[in-house]
Amino acid sequence: MTYNINDKGYYGEFGGAYIPEMLYPNVEELRQNYLKVMAEPEFQEEFNALLKDYVGRPSPLYFAKRLSEKYNTKIYLKREDLNHTGAHKINNTIGQILMAKRLNKSRIIAETGAGQHGVATATVCALMGLECIVYMGEVDIARQAPNVARMKMLGAKVVPALSGSRTLKDATNEAIRDWINNPVDTHYIIGSVVGPHPYPDMVARFQAIVSEEIQWQLKEKEGTTKPDYVVACVGGGSNAAGVFYHFLEDTEVKLIAVEAAGKGVHSGESAATSILGKEGIIHGSKTLLMQTPDGQITEPYSISAGLDYPGVGPMHAHLCKSGRAEFIAITDDDAMTAGLDLCKMEGIIPAIETSHALAIFEHKKFQPDDIVVVSLSGRGDKDLDTYVKHFNL
Ligand SMILES: Cc1ncc(COP(=O)(O)O)c(C=O)c1O
Repeated sequence: MTYNINDKGYYGEFGGAYIPEMLYPNVEELRQNYLKVMAEPEFQEEFNALLKDYVGRPSPLYFAKRLSEKYNTKIYLKREDLNHTGAHKINNTIGQILMAKRLNKSRIIAETGAGQHGVATATVCALMGLECIVYMGEVDIARQAPNVARMKMLGAKVVPALSGSRTLKDATNEAIRDWINNPVDTHYIIGSVVGPHPYPDMVARFQAIVSEEIQWQLKEKEGTTKPDYVVACVGGGSNAAGVFYHFLEDTEVKLIAVEAAGKGVHSGESAATSILGKEGIIHGSKTLLMQTPDGQITEPYSISAGLDYPGVGPMHAHLCKSGRAEFIAITDDDAMTAGLDLCKMEGIIPAIETSHALAIFEHKKFQPDDIVVVSLSGRGDKDLDTYVKHFNL
């Protein structure tokens, strides 16, 4: 069995491109070109130069000494929070803006939940001098206000999505609608490993730099390229895809995906797709999807805007169904506690999304000589208000 994509755009039974006819030319243009463009030496050169000098890669692989002592195991944090704009999202937007330029697009659209992808998209549009429109749910605009201000500073237009739960799913719907109406000059920079093929694969390849670095960084620190465990939170799944990518086929490396249980998996307010989801189609991809018995999408909930999505990327649906990755759901309260713990123990304020991944140490026991690499997907500046209110600080 392979855990990577096949030549039809599927991970096992998940993936594909289930799109309206109006969207077909855009998606097909991308499908025919993405691998060719990515293989060009000039593309690789420009991508790697920007990752190094603009994003600040490689991001450190930091041995968290006090956290490791507390949980009696070896914990390394892959510091994507130290990237320019404060999260892993910029790896993908750098790649996609270069792709858009190669395809002669002048207008960029994006969806965002936590605002990190919106900020990363606005940033690369400013860098390249391209028009930028970001769709964002009205609820997320309120809870991630600092990122809305950043996008505006960077010259992007932020358009509120007013339908449904007014969160990430609804922002994605608006972005797709825009793309249908502007098929020629516009590139849609999707922010996670979701959407129709080739997006999940293209985004995973742009994020794969993260596990490529982990291999040589771990070799330097521990004398091995292989951690025992790799852990990441999953919204759509792009930071997880990045840290998993080079370990997908090596089953000695165990993969742990952490989802948002919200107020409890069965509380009716959750985003635990792997447990609650059934096969369905969302945003052009066949995947696991939270839905009612008659196939209506269930409104998701999480305290973290970036995990508040009723589906998951098709790679992760396959990793879940095949048993290759272990899926663990973490509640709002447990995530917030783990986030505050990292602040107090390591002097790092994580994004609330990331705090879900950090909470696994209270839920799963590791051996003293296990090497556990956790994706520190983003920094918590955008979430200060939520932390302060939650803990009455
Ligand atoms: C810091 C951070 N981590 C994780 C995520 C979840 O997205 P993904 O699953 O695509 O990594 C987000 C999404 O906005 C984010 O901002």
